[in-house]
Amino acid sequence: MLKGKTIIIGLSGGIAVYKACDIIRKLKKQGAEVWVVMTPAAQKFISPLTFRALSENPVITDLFDEKQNNLPVPHIALRNKADLVLVAPATANILGKAANGIADNVLSTLLLSIKCPLVFAPAMNPVMWENKAVQSNLLRLKKNGAKIIYPEKGAVVCGDEGEGRLAEISTIIENVNNILNSKSDLEGVNILITAGATREAIDPIRFISNRSSGKMGYALASCAKTRGANVTLISGPGSLKPPSNVKFVQVVTAQEMHEAVNEHRDRAQVIIMTAAIADYRPRITFMQKLQKRSDSLNLELIKTIDVLDELGKSKNGTYLVGFAAESTNLIENGKEKMQKKNLDLIIINDVSAFEEDHSEVIILDRSGKIEPLPRQEKALIADTILDKIKNTKFASSL
Ligand SMILES: Cc1cc2nc3c(=O)[nH]c(=O)nc-3n(C[C@H](O)[C@H](O)[C@H](O)COP(=O)(O)O)c2cc1C
Repeated sequence: MLKGKTIIIGLSGGIAVYKACDIIRKLKKQGAEVWVVMTPAAQKFISPLTFRALSENPVITDLFDEKQNNLPVPHIALRNKADLVLVAPATANILGKAANGIADNVLSTLLLSIKCPLVFAPAMNPVMWENKAVQSNLLRLKKNGAKIIYPEKGAVVCGDEGEGRLAEISTIIENVNNILNSKSDLEGVNILITAGATREAIDPIRFISNRSSGKMGYALASCAKTRGANVTLISGPGSLKPPSNVKFVQVVTAQEMHEAVNEHRDRAQVIIMTAAIADYRPRITFMQKLQKRSDSLNLELIKTIDVLDELGKSKNGTYLVGFAAESTNLIENGKEKMQKKNLDLIIINDVSAFEEDHSEVIILDRSGKIEPLPRQEKALIADTILDKIKNTKFASSL
């Protein structure tokens, strides 16, 4: 999703500098070209060598060293490359300098030289964060057009608790994507997405479920939101953080998933069913924990409602997308499911990629077109699926 984009990461001197390693890896995985600029203080925490290896570019650490990096005027050379500058972690000090126009090292000078979007992800001790000077610098930066990715609450390295931890890496990456990919080509389209596995209770502590992580559905929700859609995400339980600004509905069982889909389906122009909803549930859910009394235990399972089938039978102009986790006869089984469930599009999923960040899928449409996508990030697959939906369902209207 970041192919062709150049992102400059500014590193200032805080403990969270090590987290920038992961940010760089993720940005590069999404196709971005990354350049790193470090303040002298940042270099006390981690050596530029690490970032040279991760970014696969020279690391800029000095404004005046002629020999460094073949960039005679580094801040201008970098300015000319940049689609976005992200300062993560941003210290109280760099926020103060940027807010007040101070340019005394290569990073602070760069921040005054750019015209592209500027994003700060501050990280510091909670007492520093609450300091009035820091807060008024933030206000000034926001007024000047910078974007702030606010820190989170929690314990920080020095033992204090409160706001000041660097935002989650996923939140930072999502924000960068939102800024750089504001295509808005799905502006105003209502999209309902289901994600994750359901859980069918056996007793108060045991349940039947499956390995679906929800990553594909969450990637679709995030990507659709970035492209301007109004997204409702109905999800089974899991540890993933819902993307910001989507309507999030948490469910547990297949029955709850069914009810939630029914509640939201009428407003949706597109429904994408990535959830792995249980096909069967125990006929009886025991109210008390089952005791280990005999050598075997028979559980009677009964069918749950087939939500996708029900949607297909009663769809009224809604564009319906299904996912099929197949391990044999991929194309034949996928085509059969598309026909049987009256789908407009079906994505055949690699079953071994359920919990992974990457997958390999095949997209089948009603015209019989078969599009295999090579193994790639689920975020990239999500973008391609949304392109496909846009080009078929909304070809004439968007
Ligand atoms: C161990 C250690 C950790 C620090 N962590 C932070 C931090 O997380 N956030 C912050 O704003 N400053 C932190 N500082 C203070 C900055 O390093 C210091 O203000 C420095 O001047 C920042 O310079 P820079 O903004 O040019 O990188 C830390 C200092 C030390 C010694």
